[in-house]
Amino acid sequence: MQGSRRTPNARTGTSQHGLFNALKKQPPDPLLSLIAKLRDDPRQEKIDLGVGVYRDASGITPVMHCVKEAERLLLAMQATKSYLGSEGDVGFVNLLKPMVCGEAFARDPRLVGVQTPGGTGALRLAADVIAASVARTKIWLGLPSWPNHEPIFSAAGLTIQTYRSFDVTTQQLLFDDTIAALKSAQPGDVVLLHGCCHNPTGSDFDVAQWATLAKLMATRDLVPLLDFAYQGFGRGFEPDATGIGIVLEHVGEALVAYSCDKNFGLYRERTGALFAFTQDAPAADRVYSNMLSAARANWAMPPDHGAAVVRLILESDELRRDWHQELEDMRSRVASVRQELAAADSLFAPLVLQCGMFSLLPIDSVVIARLQAEHGIYMAGSGRINVAGIRGGDVERLVRAMRGVRGR
Ligand code: LMR
Repeated sequence: MQGSRRTPNARTGTSQHGLFNALKKQPPDPLLSLIAKLRDDPRQEKIDLGVGVYRDASGITPVMHCVKEAERLLLAMQATKSYLGSEGDVGFVNLLKPMVCGEAFARDPRLVGVQTPGGTGALRLAADVIAASVARTKIWLGLPSWPNHEPIFSAAGLTIQTYRSFDVTTQQLLFDDTIAALKSAQPGDVVLLHGCCHNPTGSDFDVAQWATLAKLMATRDLVPLLDFAYQGFGRGFEPDATGIGIVLEHVGEALVAYSCDKNFGLYRERTGALFAFTQDAPAADRVYSNMLSAARANWAMPPDHGAAVVRLILESDELRRDWHQELEDMRSRVASVRQELAAADSLFAPLVLQCGMFSLLPIDSVVIARLQAEHGIYMAGSGRINVAGIRGGDVERLVRAMRGVRGR
């Protein structure tokens, strides 16, 4: 054959029946496009408060030491890259169970889980299982929330019912509004809750509020879907699972979408899991089979590498200890940046009462645009900042820039 390229089709005109004619151009994802915009900004002093990745005091997102060590072991010992099943790495899933759901539930035959491509994959799989279970299921979503929640749930065909759960101006949780909304939900409706380190507000329920919510969901037969993507970044590794524990003690059914992308620093490896707590062993079996069939239809099986790394870390006492220490170091850096910001300016004062990587500042789009254009300070259009993006020495400049653009 002469040459390897095929000749372009001579029929280049437009047809009114073209399959793609009806497609509307979609706007780029605002958060992900911020990454590219920031990368192309030549200013040395730019500050990245955008996408939710941990950065150390010098602004680097390091590969964790325990991950490097596990990868070294994996490289030496991995004998095949043949397929796993749609459930992914079963050892990984079983080792996560006690961390996520507690020791007692981990041994309970009513709890099942599968590996997923990150927390996003876990949320999508949860939505597909919910949609396969009941026609026109409603999911209750307190706003503001992670902007990707709505697209994920609507892509799976769920009906989304929103309510206000946080006041940005006062930086207060709207707990009474949350309770009122859930009192109007119908039995079988699903309720999305953030397990810890709320994204974007950093404001979590306290123990009493979790207990109130758990009892309400139990009495009204509502099914919690807990998005648990930041364990270890809030009050501490075990304290961050308090809310999940309280919910599981009360309700008969629940789903937990877990991510290892942040707490193992595995972002691009897409490492997560979906757990379902069901009413009895036969229900667990049914749910598990639906998780597998939905996973098969979506991605056949999840990518292996991240889960294999996490499994090796959790199987080794030494690596597990290292991991906990590294995670605790990351958590305490984020907490101390919160303290520093709060002490520097009253705008940031509520940040010490919040936790995790995110807070949602009560500032408008003009301020956000000017910070970016005039000072190279990048944040989400909502005013969400990633506290972990603030390097040592950035606080003073951030506060000065903020005062300048806000005219204070
Ligand atoms: C974030 O909220 O910044 C992260 O969860 C990354 C993402 O996918 O949006």
